[in-house]
Amino acid sequence: MFPHRHLLQIEGLEPPAIGQMLDLAESYVLLNRSGKTQRDLLRGRTLINLFFEDSTRTRTSFELAGKRLGADVINMSVSSSSVNKGETLLDTAATLNAMHCDLLVVRHGESGAPALLAQKVDAAVINAGDGTHEHPTQALLDALTIRRRKGRLQGLTVAICGDVLHSRVARSNIHLLGAMGSQVRVIGPPTLIPSEAASLGVSVFHDMAKGLAGADVVMMLRLQKERMARGLVPSAREFFRFFGLDAEKLAFAKPDALVMHPGPMNRGVEIDSAVADDPARSVIKEQVEMGVAVRMAVLDTLARAEGRPRVRNAP
Ligand code: ASP
Ligand code: CP
Repeated sequence: MFPHRHLLQIEGLEPPAIGQMLDLAESYVLLNRSGKTQRDLLRGRTLINLFFEDSTRTRTSFELAGKRLGADVINMSVSSSSVNKGETLLDTAATLNAMHCDLLVVRHGESGAPALLAQKVDAAVINAGDGTHEHPTQALLDALTIRRRKGRLQGLTVAICGDVLHSRVARSNIHLLGAMGSQVRVIGPPTLIPSEAASLGVSVFHDMAKGLAGADVVMMLRLQKERMARGLVPSAREFFRFFGLDAEKLAFAKPDALVMHPGPMNRGVEIDSAVADDPARSVIKEQVEMGVAVRMAVLDTLARAEGRPRVRNAP
């Protein structure tokens, strides 16, 4: 039994809870590949996608995941909602709560916004990315991708590279991979590495050659310009020269190292197309596939969690 009502962050999750979620997601990978669905599982449940920031992968895969499990899925478009008339986040949540939604998937630019909502609504809240804080389902799908390819998480060396400072993906991965026994390194210019990195139990490198040496997994991150108050890198061209992943730099990692990227990619800034599109090394498309399975597992788990009201609007 998953011991939480909401999925707000990876930090604090125990390894058995993470392992259980990955195992369930694994079963959904097989189900999805077989072309079957499980439409009875969440029949009568309502899922609302509430995205205050742009998304391609996360929003679509939560929608697909909900539909494959039989939930009624509503995508609320914030850009055409009453948020534009000045309605606050909490009033928006109270309004959705009054409609008895069961699962609320929230992406927001402020760190902590989903946790705040979780205190105010009856629904199970799932953090789909909050500010620079966490993106828990991304870390779960990354872990599932790695575990399927490498057979384990324990004892692997994972290098997370680029704009770690602004990355909620990096933070969630650091917590998850650390909990599951991987050695995590972060690599980037000093301006893009958070000052608390060492206290998170990771090794810090400012040089790709040294940081990638012996890595089993190379995870690239996008430069999050929308979160940079000022220019923290001289230019995209210079950033690519020192920290962009190309075949030459990838050669420092193990010969069978996986190349990952949460997407969206900025080709030629943090990653070269030749590496991103190399089917022998890149698992970027597989990450997207795992995203649907992981989100099915999360929806299934939270909807069935003990204490959650049973189907209210079933015929
Ligand atoms: N899509 C991921 C996120 O929303 C990573 C990124 O945008 O670079 O955090
Ligand atoms: N990886 C990720 O969260 O992608 P989107 O921003 O497109 O959802």
